[in-house]
Amino acid sequence: MICLGIESTAHTFGVGIMDENGKILANAKDSYTTEQGGIHPTEAKNHHIACKDKVVEDALKEAGITMDDVDLISFSQSPGMAPCLVIGMEKAKELARKYKKPLIGINHCIAHLEIGRKLCGCEDPVMLYASGANTQIIAYEGGKYRIFGETLDNGIGNFLDGFARYMGMGFPGGPKIYSLALEGKEYIELPYVVKGMDVSFGGIQTNLKQKYDSGKFSKEDLCYSCQETVFAMLVEVSERAMAHCEKKELLLGGGVACNKRLQEMCENMCKARDAKCFLPPNGVLVDNGAMIAWEGIIEYKSRGADKIDDLDIKPYERTDDVKVEWR
Ligand code: ATP
Ligand code: FE2
Repeated sequence: MICLGIESTAHTFGVGIMDENGKILANAKDSYTTEQGGIHPTEAKNHHIACKDKVVEDALKEAGITMDDVDLISFSQSPGMAPCLVIGMEKAKELARKYKKPLIGINHCIAHLEIGRKLCGCEDPVMLYASGANTQIIAYEGGKYRIFGETLDNGIGNFLDGFARYMGMGFPGGPKIYSLALEGKEYIELPYVVKGMDVSFGGIQTNLKQKYDSGKFSKEDLCYSCQETVFAMLVEVSERAMAHCEKKELLLGGGVACNKRLQEMCENMCKARDAKCFLPPNGVLVDNGAMIAWEGIIEYKSRGADKIDDLDIKPYERTDDVKVEWR
């Protein structure tokens, strides 16, 4: 079985093609970026409209197949920015109707988890899902992927991107903060906000901006201290969830998980508690179509296709709203 998956929850329009053994046949994408300022939903939507046909073509070409070889189409139905989600869904419906293929809607967060599980070969991990809009600690318990901890305000990526934007850098800011942090020498104390298994970044954001405005600190030291502080928070809540659930595997997901410093801190924590840390390749950490295709295959096998006319986007669906019938 070959599935073509369409991702369009936010800045990225992605089309992935997977087979049922978990082989990535293609993972094409086009991402909306800015030189200055953050992501604007209408601009992201227009970006998706402009590139959608080309990205589908690119993926088919990369896989060396045609639509006739595709057995199933999937798309990210939730959660995300409504104007962006609609474009992916419309393209998926168009292809499903034109080529008479079954269609299935997918939860983006769960797709991050399942592609990681497949590619890394881990069984039953706690996932630290650190992306732009989402920051959650997720694990499987009692028939669902449950959220054991999460951000009480911004996602970590949006927090990092917001601080980068404040310092005049464009989107995405995460990689720029990472590069500057490498040059940082002195740790500047920042608020550290962990409440049980939840985290919050709003106060740290304000504090960082004030420190930046004071002109007393270098960008490098601020970026370094920022990363050390907020990543330590993520590692702490991940470790607490692993202890609570008695799980021995940590899986990383989301674009911020590309950050080498976060990866290193997670690996150190796992080593110290005799657990394993799994790092999927960057191509499936950031938003991508391959994970949507893979999740399409596993959900289709357990619950079959959705009815095309009934399908609508679910911008606010939560990870624990989804009934996990395939595990
Ligand atoms: P989601 O829809 O899952 O919430 P998202 O749409 O925001 O996620 P992702 O691609 O998962 O998108 O993550 C984007 C975030 O990842 C941005 O904040 C960006 O700065 C950060 N990021 C991407 N690549 C890197 C990298 N190499 N190093 C550090 N941060 C990165
Ligand atoms: Fe994502």
